[in-house]
Amino acid sequence: MRPTMVAGNWKMNGLSADAVHLTQAILSADLEQMRPEVVLFPPYTLLHAVTQEAKGTALRWGGQNLFWEPNGAYTGEISGAMLRDMGCRYVLVGHSERRQIFAETDELVARKVKAALSSGLIPVVCVGESEAERAQGATEQVLQRQVEAILPLLNLESNQPNLIIAYEPIWAIGTGQSASPEEAQTVHAFIRKLVAGHSSQLAKRLILLYGGSVKGNNAAALFEQEDIDGALVGGASLSAGEFIQICRAAE
Ligand code: G3P
Repeated sequence: MRPTMVAGNWKMNGLSADAVHLTQAILSADLEQMRPEVVLFPPYTLLHAVTQEAKGTALRWGGQNLFWEPNGAYTGEISGAMLRDMGCRYVLVGHSERRQIFAETDELVARKVKAALSSGLIPVVCVGESEAERAQGATEQVLQRQVEAILPLLNLESNQPNLIIAYEPIWAIGTGQSASPEEAQTVHAFIRKLVAGHSSQLAKRLILLYGGSVKGNNAAALFEQEDIDGALVGGASLSAGEFIQICRAAE
């Protein structure tokens, strides 16, 4: 059985007091007893507050992005080493908001994945098609391109994949219109098959998260699907009650 994970991507939301309050409320759910690993992705400015609350607990945290160089004259950027220094275990790479708004290409995403791995972070690589690509029947083509850009970075020697993939259809993000469990399962199975073409052992162990309008009331049906190992949650992760409900659905 693969491990499960529920991660909250706070995006560009929250001030220090919100981070303390939200983290404390999530910790009150006794995460040690929960099956999924619970991870928070706060904005950089809130990493310290989350760290202060979460250190020594089962809660994990990560950065929402990173730059590919370890240091230097890159004003406004954050490196993998800096995230590790904040106690991060994970980092999001290639979120569709970064691909779309900040023009991150597959090549750039691969550079960031490499940088994350060499800093000792586990990248959570986001992939997913837009509404238009879906309408054109190009979903598999888009995913194949995005996944194949990072496949060479999987460590074939390891028993455990060194990265996580999150399937986030862009049309489902923040729209309230989640992919149906069956639709999401079909795509997850496709991604796992792509990875299996590289290494069947790693494909079996790869954690595949679904993201896009996951809520307390639709999480359980998504998690029942064979190839869905958890969720990357946006809006609903800003409410402790709803986020905990999603974590419990992964039990
Ligand atoms: O990374 C999570 C995200 O993009 C999904 O957002 O608000 O639809 O859960 P949301």
